[in-house]
Amino acid sequence: MSVVPTTGNGKVTVPDLLQRKSAADSQLPSNKIVCLTAYDYPTARLLDEAGVDVILVGDSLAMVALGHDSTLPVTLAEMLHHARAVRRGVRRALLVADMPFGSYHADTAESLRNAVRFIKEAGVEAVKVEGGERRLELIARLTEAEIPVMGHVGLTPQSVNALGGYRVQGKTTDSAEQLLRDARAVEAAGAFAVVLEAVPRELATQITRELRIPTIGIGAGPDCDGQILVANDMLGLTFEPSPKFARQYAKVGEIISKAVREYCDDVRNGNFPSDAESYHAGQVAKGRKLTPITG
Ligand code: KIV
Repeated sequence: MSVVPTTGNGKVTVPDLLQRKSAADSQLPSNKIVCLTAYDYPTARLLDEAGVDVILVGDSLAMVALGHDSTLPVTLAEMLHHARAVRRGVRRALLVADMPFGSYHADTAESLRNAVRFIKEAGVEAVKVEGGERRLELIARLTEAEIPVMGHVGLTPQSVNALGGYRVQGKTTDSAEQLLRDARAVEAAGAFAVVLEAVPRELATQITRELRIPTIGIGAGPDCDGQILVANDMLGLTFEPSPKFARQYAKVGEIISKAVREYCDDVRNGNFPSDAESYHAGQVAKGRKLTPITG
């Protein structure tokens, strides 16, 4: 599957996203950057084919796909494994992967080596790191190594223990000023975009106006340059109540439950499989190779 950007092949690239922000019509809703998370091949392929611009292999993987109660436990190996699966399903969208907690918190050299693994082993086109001013040096180093970086400020879920919970950030004057400094630092360090998570709409609007790089909002109001949601939230494939900003577009969990209950009933009632769904002696299924039974 070729994902190499060539002029006019529709592939979304980092320069495209920067150019969209600088275009005179960047505030037109049709120019908004549409982002979603994905953790596996089929979902990634469906999202890509539906026209999503940026697909993020988020560390929300830990919670929505692996069943952990925070994003902290997911490992670099797990993130790489899922990023590789998503890569196979994505042709057009820009593919970004979250660096998991612990993979960029020691020294810069180790963080760089870990980021390189995402590029080399999983074929992602950019990495995302959480944190503002305190990530200045790291973002600058990754950018210098030709690894595009997406920043993430506001509510940063990997800081849950330090923050004491998942709360809206930037509500007081002091914390709003800190958030502004964080967003500016991410841009100054060379990031190509920044996620604003759970921040007041007014503050997100101000940051969006001030920065030259696109802002991608999640719980940050409609004025950001783009929006991102956790796919499982918007598809209705979670077990916990979703935050108020996560509009639900489908109830996929209910569809799966209903289908599986019907299947259970059919097997238990003798309605599955039917004779038409069975092979018969001397017959070879169309398009399928049957392995001869020997012995
Ligand atoms: O891990 C994730 O899914 C994220 C997005 C929600 C921004 O960081």
